[in-house]
Amino acid sequence: MQYRLTIDVFCHVEQTANAGKALAEQRAFARCKVAVRDGGLARAVTHYADHPSPHLIIVEDDGDTSTLQSRLDALAQVVEPGRKLIVVGAVNDISVYRRIVSLGVTDYLVSPLSLEGMMDAIERAAHDPKGPERCKFVAVTGARGGVGASTIAHNMAWAAAKRANIRTILADMDLTFGTAGLAFNQDPRQAFGEAFTDADRLDITLLERYMTGDDENLQILSTPGALRQYDSIDEEAVDKAIDLCRQMAKLVIVDVPHVWTDWSEGLLTAADETILVLAPDIANIRDSRNMLDFLNSKRGESRQVKVIINKSDIAKRTRLLPKDISNTLGIQPVAAIPFDPTTFIESANDGKMIGDRFKSHKLIGVFTDLVMRTGVRASAKTGPVKSQKKMGFPSLFKKPQAKTA
Ligand SMILES: Nc1ncnc2c1ncn2[C@@H]1O[C@H](COP(=O)(O)OP(=O)(O)OP(=O)(O)O)[C@@H](O)[C@H]1O
Ligand SMILES: [Mg+2]
Repeated sequence: MQYRLTIDVFCHVEQTANAGKALAEQRAFARCKVAVRDGGLARAVTHYADHPSPHLIIVEDDGDTSTLQSRLDALAQVVEPGRKLIVVGAVNDISVYRRIVSLGVTDYLVSPLSLEGMMDAIERAAHDPKGPERCKFVAVTGARGGVGASTIAHNMAWAAAKRANIRTILADMDLTFGTAGLAFNQDPRQAFGEAFTDADRLDITLLERYMTGDDENLQILSTPGALRQYDSIDEEAVDKAIDLCRQMAKLVIVDVPHVWTDWSEGLLTAADETILVLAPDIANIRDSRNMLDFLNSKRGESRQVKVIINKSDIAKRTRLLPKDISNTLGIQPVAAIPFDPTTFIESANDGKMIGDRFKSHKLIGVFTDLVMRTGVRASAKTGPVKSQKKMGFPSLFKKPQAKTA
């Protein structure tokens, strides 16, 4: 399994620092962003006062364990909610371990930390079922241009936000010709592509300026449509933008245009779920075959690309039916969506999603089902996509309590 996490390590001891530095060279962590700093817990507290929080924080502490709770409390004041914390301390005592873990800290380990010890702890933290839910990142792309990949990405984002009540960001990576703004009848103030021109400065506050949307549950990153070239988009900058989105929502749907570049390949490889949309013709089948072979070998057995056949009945007369395509590709599509220009083109021309235009259309169920298959949890309450407020200790690291009768 390849992890895709942002990890900050604040250490005191050289061996722990070396373990942190070696982490990103390990295959399973090659796509993680690891920053190693000295200064331990105290430095972490000052750092997060004006920096965004990563997914996982490892802090080494050489102070008195009797005052650890109040010092962790200070950290909780500045870290964004939902992050995981591993504490590395000098005391090897089960009662200390129990006390610290009971505070909601993910793990307590004894200093110094070896590389193996650090990798094991991160793996345990990443798989902790009681831990905070990670944002799902879904990439949608087409085997060829014009197959309807953007339409499917937009309708999935709509279904997630409006039907499943999930805080969603739709990021349109078709930086020049993207239609996410148009499709939702939104007028982006600034083109999303501009965010990549000075990626070093990019943070949540800046990214919010590119977002548009009149529904707090759904924010859109797109273009107003001005002709502008974005040739040298850096893969790292794209990763950074998506990581920031993931800190702001429960679901990030990225519309990956039909291009093959470092960053598009990176997105399609790294996404929690990659959806390939194809139309029923020979060129689509050839390109799907190549993309599936390439991406599936990189993504591994458990994260195979999902396939949607769109405009599935358009080639009825040529007898290229969905079952022929499944047989040729050796894959069962997760959906086959018929060619229906009335529904799709009328909605697009009205700047509306299918669900807004046709209130009980059966495709709403198809798009909602595609969203729920990603494993994202529907939520009972609506919350804003905008940056979350910093919160106090108990709600930050605390694991959910068992319900009592
Ligand atoms: N099932 C469908 N039936 C009829 N029309 C459809 C269907 N799906 C999409 N369309 C229409 O096909 C056109 C192309 O769709 P879309 O822009 O989503 O494709 P794309 O794969 O994102 O293209 P591009 O390569 O330009 O990014 C749009 O006019 C859209 O409304
Ligand atoms: Mg598109």
